[in-house]
Order: sequence, then structure tokens, then C-alpha cells
Amino acid sequence: MQSILDEIAERARMTRQKGRVADYIPELAKIDPDHFGMCIATVDGECFSAGDADIPFSIQSVSKVFALALALGRVGDAIWHRVGREPSGLSFDSILLLEREDGVPRNPFINAGALVTTDTYLTASSPREALASLLRFVRTACDDEGIHINEKVAASEISTGHRNFALAHYLASCGNLHNEVNKVLGTYCHQCGIEMTCRQLALAGRFLIDAPDMPRLVSPDRRRRIASLMMTCGHYDGSGDFAFRVGLPGKSGVGGGILVIAPGRAAIAVWSPGLNRYGNSKLGTEAMEFFAKQTGWSVF
Ligand code: DON
Repeated sequence: MQSILDEIAERARMTRQKGRVADYIPELAKIDPDHFGMCIATVDGECFSAGDADIPFSIQSVSKVFALALALGRVGDAIWHRVGREPSGLSFDSILLLEREDGVPRNPFINAGALVTTDTYLTASSPREALASLLRFVRTACDDEGIHINEKVAASEISTGHRNFALAHYLASCGNLHNEVNKVLGTYCHQCGIEMTCRQLALAGRFLIDAPDMPRLVSPDRRRRIASLMMTCGHYDGSGDFAFRVGLPGKSGVGGGILVIAPGRAAIAVWSPGLNRYGNSKLGTEAMEFFAKQTGWSVF
């Protein structure tokens, strides 16, 4: 396992085409595109890592996996009246289908759907309390209290997040946000501003495999369903491509992180800030493609 990771990190170091760092959130544009980290946390709790696996990065949309688990814990299957379970085939911040489909987002991983998820776990609490429960979930999952929200990144997104504001107001106009729009947006942007290292993210991702040493944060049924959504929707309009190349459920973020689940075996986190045309980590995807091939861990 370690030799596979070392080879992946070396290939990443040698690659010139690293993709483009996200710049629509100004704080993210400052990140050095040469970072590369990867960590595998196995079902038995063993960790293998390479490169910058201990440098914290902005998990951005990877947070939508934890947020969905938290929201499901709050309202159960009732959430599926407000958000769908189909891939959108459109970019993560698209507003196109929202009007055609009466303000019900296609899935919880596109921004519109994630705003509904945030609204769901926010209900009946203040943004501060809601974020505290999200952080508690993540910290419990990786058994590490040292996970925080980067306020600068959150503020940077709030000041430039016109798309998300548009999506949230459209959802509200359809009656699909129950809290005040600015509260939902503030909570969502802070959720996306959570920082984690590859090691922390891989360890936290073990809540989606049957890791015997972990507290059970979601039921086996929910785990399977969350993983299925990661496979079909976790990379937006690049989800088919990721399934084709890697064959494992994954969730990406514009910070360049990807959390991947190898059911029953391990959770894997990879980070490289340069993105491909879908807004997913370019080298992260290539690393996972190589990894899946070497290990034969594709679910197909
Ligand atoms: O809402 C946004 O645009 C960002 N906070 C998150 C988007 C994202 O990570 C898309 N992922 N590839």
C-alpha cells in the first residue's frame, strides 16, 4: 500500500498540468497549486499517507457528505421531499433546473441541494449551534478535536458568493428554505470553510465504511445510500467520468480535496488544489484512478 502511495505522490510531483486553482473564492486563489497529499485509513484504523497529508486545506463541498448525514439524523427520510437523488448533469452552482423543477434541487451535493441540507440541520438552532453540531460530528468521526472553520475563507465566500445567494433566494421563493436566507447562506459558507488534513478527512470518512472501532454515526442503510449518492452525484457533471475512471464513490470540493470510499475496506482522502473543467481536483482524480487500478478496489 505504502509503495503505491509513494509512486502516486512522485507522479503528482512530476506532472506539469496540475489544473487551475479555484479563484471565485479569493482566499482559495492564494493556495500553492503544487501541494499534493493523500491518506488511506483502513477499516482496521491503519493509516498510510504520502506527500502533504498533514497540511490542512479547505474541504469545501466535501463537507456536504457530513452535512447530509447530520440532516438525515435530524429529519430522516423527510429530507427527500425537499431534495432529489438524481445527478443533475450540470455544474455544481447551476440554477437552470431549479426553475423547471419547482425549487426542488436534483441532489444534496449540488450547491442548491446543499443549501437545503444546511437549512435542514439549521432548523430550530442558531447558526453557531448548528455549526457546532456539524463540527462535533466531524470531530467524533475522526476522533480529533483539532478541526476548525477558517473564518477568512468563509468571509471570502460570503463576499463573492452571488451564485449561492441567487440559488438560496430562488429556493426561498419556492418555499424550500425554512430559515432566513442570510442565516442559511452564512451557515453554508462556514460549513464549506472547514479545514482538514488528508489524514483527518480519511479517518473521518470511515464513518461510511463498517469500521468496528468507531462510534456508529449513521445506520448501515444510510451509509449505503450516502455512498450511492457520492457515486452518482459526488462529482457533479463529472460524476460519470469519475465512476468510469475510478469506480468508487467520491465527493470532491473546490479546495481540491476528494473523499473516496472503498466499501468495507478503507476511506481515502486526496488533495491537490488544481481543478479540472468540472471543478474537481485534476491530480486527485488521476491519483484515484491509478490507485483503484493498482488495488483492484473498484466496486465494478
Ligand atoms: O458553494 C460553493 O461554491 C463552494 N463553497 C463549494 C463548491 C464546491 O466545492 C464544488 N466542488 N467541487
